[in-house]
Amino acid sequence: MSAELDQRAREILRTNDKGGYTVPTDGLYPYQWNWDSVFVALGFATFDESRACREIETLFEVQWDSGFVPHIVFRQDDPGYFPGPSTWNAGGQVPTSGITQPPIAASVIYEMWCRTKTDSIRERLATLFPKVLAWHRWFHRCRISEDTGAVIITHPWESGRDNSPEWTRPTSRVDPTGVGPYQRRDLQHADASMRPLKRDYDRYIALLEYGRDTGWDHSKLATEGPFRMADVGMTMILLRATRDLIRLSKELGRVDIIAELDGYVRSLEQGADYLWDSKAQTYCSRDVISGEASGYVTNASFLYGYAGVGDHGQQAHMARHWDRIGARVQYMLPSQDPDDAGFDHMRYWCGPVWIMMNYILARGFLEIGQQAWAERLRADSHRLIADFGFHEAFSPQTGDGTGGRDFSWTAAMWLAWCGRNTAAPGT
Ligand code: GLC
Repeated sequence: MSAELDQRAREILRTNDKGGYTVPTDGLYPYQWNWDSVFVALGFATFDESRACREIETLFEVQWDSGFVPHIVFRQDDPGYFPGPSTWNAGGQVPTSGITQPPIAASVIYEMWCRTKTDSIRERLATLFPKVLAWHRWFHRCRISEDTGAVIITHPWESGRDNSPEWTRPTSRVDPTGVGPYQRRDLQHADASMRPLKRDYDRYIALLEYGRDTGWDHSKLATEGPFRMADVGMTMILLRATRDLIRLSKELGRVDIIAELDGYVRSLEQGADYLWDSKAQTYCSRDVISGEASGYVTNASFLYGYAGVGDHGQQAHMARHWDRIGARVQYMLPSQDPDDAGFDHMRYWCGPVWIMMNYILARGFLEIGQQAWAERLRADSHRLIADFGFHEAFSPQTGDGTGGRDFSWTAAMWLAWCGRNTAAPGT
């Protein structure tokens, strides 16, 4: 059974491979997505390391001079997707979107570095190093709030947790009246009950148009834009990625930049601390404009282990959330707390389980001595895929698949992690 699923997972990656880059799934997402590609590289690395490197190389080929790396790369036009390249009006020779996504690259490159035994692969990974460093510098120049140290996102889609209830209140302030008529394409590929509501989608497009009208001035968007959120997921992921970049710098003998990266770590640690909400006793995102914390426990809240933050008291509160949520669902970890407003077990980021989130969460849990949690995530992820298929995400209550099918990062996570009978990811 496992061998069959391994083969199926490899087939999905090969089918979604469009020549140097992989689409998340045909139809719903027909382009290259930033953090999808990076997770997908881990899947390819289990049977073709060179192809794995290529996936990350093609993503960085479209890096902007500022160091920014876009969230979508439009290599060929596909009228079946909205908002496409003409709506974004961004990028150079190859059109791109104008916003970014969680910077998971340094961590995955470091993981591939540790696993490979091949010099030529290491050389290619070393070539990516300055590009990833430039991206991290861009974050610090354009997206880290000096007062708080947290990462500011300027569009919900930057978080990668596109439709999280964390963004509902802050986006309600965004005025969608200027948005012209548009046709959603996602609803042709997935059931409306799984996708964002029109009310939210209108605001996503209004924010896109606002960004485009600034000429994608990223600093301006983070200081004056109508949606500015200190995002818990981005902050934790960038913090972990910076720690991995330091490890990689040491491997590469780049001691000259360690002091700079240590400074980034300190600032992001302060950012993570700022995102502790003492009222809800959880890590969560905070609206920069109103100062209000979402108060929601999401799967990103539990990234504290992965980021290496949280004192005993904070960890004890999170453990209580873990136990409470664990008793409410069949499969861990839902993207939204079932006891919180906005929970919907099948709707995009309002409840479903994402396997690649489980993967990074499990890595973190192992590092903070929560072996049982890590094993539960691996075992639940294994069951979800084995019993229901390689979906984009899954109901935490019934296990049913939601969103797209034959999904690349789900297949990659099967190969790199949960399809293996070992608790430890990446071993
Ligand atoms: C959705 C997800 C985002 C992902 C993209 C492609 O927009 O929210 O995280 O990158 O799909 O899979």
